Amino acid sequence: MKHFTILLLLCLPVCSTYPLNGGAKKEEDPNLDLLQHYLENYYNLAKDVKQFVRRKDSGPVVKKIQEMQKFLGLEVTGKLDSETLEVMRMPRCGVPDVGDFGTFPSMPKWRKTRLTYRIVNYTLDLPRDAVDSAIEKALKVWEEVTPLTFSRIYEGEADILITFAAREHGDFIPFDGPGMVLAHAFSPGPGINGDAHFDDDEKWTKDTSGPPPASPDDPVVPTESVPPETPAMCDPTLSFDAVSTLRGEILFFKDRYFWRRSLWRPEPELHLISTFWPSLPSHLDAAYEVPSKDTIFIFKGNKFWAIRGTEVQAGYPRDIHTLGFPSIIRKIDAAVSDEEKKTYFFVEDKYWRFDENSQSMEQGFPRLITDDFPGVEPKANAVLQAFGFFYFFSGSSKFEFDPNVRMVTRILKSNYWLCGQRR
Ligand SMILES: *[C@@H]1O[C@H](CO)[C@@H](O)[C@H](O)[C@H]1NC(C)=O
Repeated sequence: MKHFTILLLLCLPVCSTYPLNGGAKKEEDPNLDLLQHYLENYYNLAKDVKQFVRRKDSGPVVKKIQEMQKFLGLEVTGKLDSETLEVMRMPRCGVPDVGDFGTFPSMPKWRKTRLTYRIVNYTLDLPRDAVDSAIEKALKVWEEVTPLTFSRIYEGEADILITFAAREHGDFIPFDGPGMVLAHAFSPGPGINGDAHFDDDEKWTKDTSGPPPASPDDPVVPTESVPPETPAMCDPTLSFDAVSTLRGEILFFKDRYFWRRSLWRPEPELHLISTFWPSLPSHLDAAYEVPSKDTIFIFKGNKFWAIRGTEVQAGYPRDIHTLGFPSIIRKIDAAVSDEEKKTYFFVEDKYWRFDENSQSMEQGFPRLITDDFPGVEPKANAVLQAFGFFYFFSGSSKFEFDPNVRMVTRILKSNYWLCGQRR
């Protein structure tokens, strides 16, 4: 549920994500075991379909893979390709993606707006007040964008009971030990509904190292909750101020807001920038992530900020000229960092390249964007690096550029990842 979004953001478990297949026999393909497990747990694959997974052309499994790929926003190939495998190996919410939980077909809602919560017990990994304040902070995010209020109670039946538990813990969805599933939560309603469970086999931290979080699904809240002036996510003319990855999610900044797109949630989340980072301005110019530093850099005018999780780093904002831009440059349009830790800064029709290792601007720049990225619109609002491509956002269009063949492979709507699957 969304009220744990921040908790998950703040308290990333430090755990290995990859040891998936302790039990398999040597000659068996561990990926198939993972697939089997995944489809059974999250996509309602009947347990007796077991043998089908090992037959490549089997109907039910291919169908399930397609269903999963669609849900996760991947290309629907029906095959266990590397992109799909990569997503399956990420830590995730433990609630199935299909069925009564996850997509919530019956649209359960809270029937009141004043909700109570109780923290039933704690992880030993963190001081209690760290857990308390992370939860309080996360619930504030919800309060700001919905009519819901959350008050804490210390005994008795609360609408939302929060527990830390390992393995089998009294519901029908046992946790899975370290890694993979981090938490799960139940859709709004009485009893176990509304409750949130955190896997206590994870190492919960206040700080941020470890794999990207997978937030559990959001509860369905009344639609009048969205403030009237919010930009319309599916407006075909929608453009963005800045776009960046953040710990495996994609953030789309627009005016005072940003959308968080995670592969795990069927719907993007809309937040006020100020809720996460009160000292940041609105109407940003550019944003990019350096995953190896677990940091995103945010630009507006001649200033930039470094951010980890919800913390703006000390010593910021700094002046962009400290990065090596000539003094005539007043602002940048877009920025993106690649896997080689080279950061590209786009200004009008030119770009600069900055080396994150040596922290210096490279020789021979600026260069013309069209010389090195043929086919893209030269003036970019935002640039994102994802799935091996550069995405140039220009007004309401997004140019997918393949750096290996140096050409534009697709032109999409800028908001394709926010509402592409609806059209
Ligand atoms: C917290 O409570 C749940 C439910 O009663 C229980 O399963 C779990 O073991 C408890 N966890 C801790 C850390 O005491």
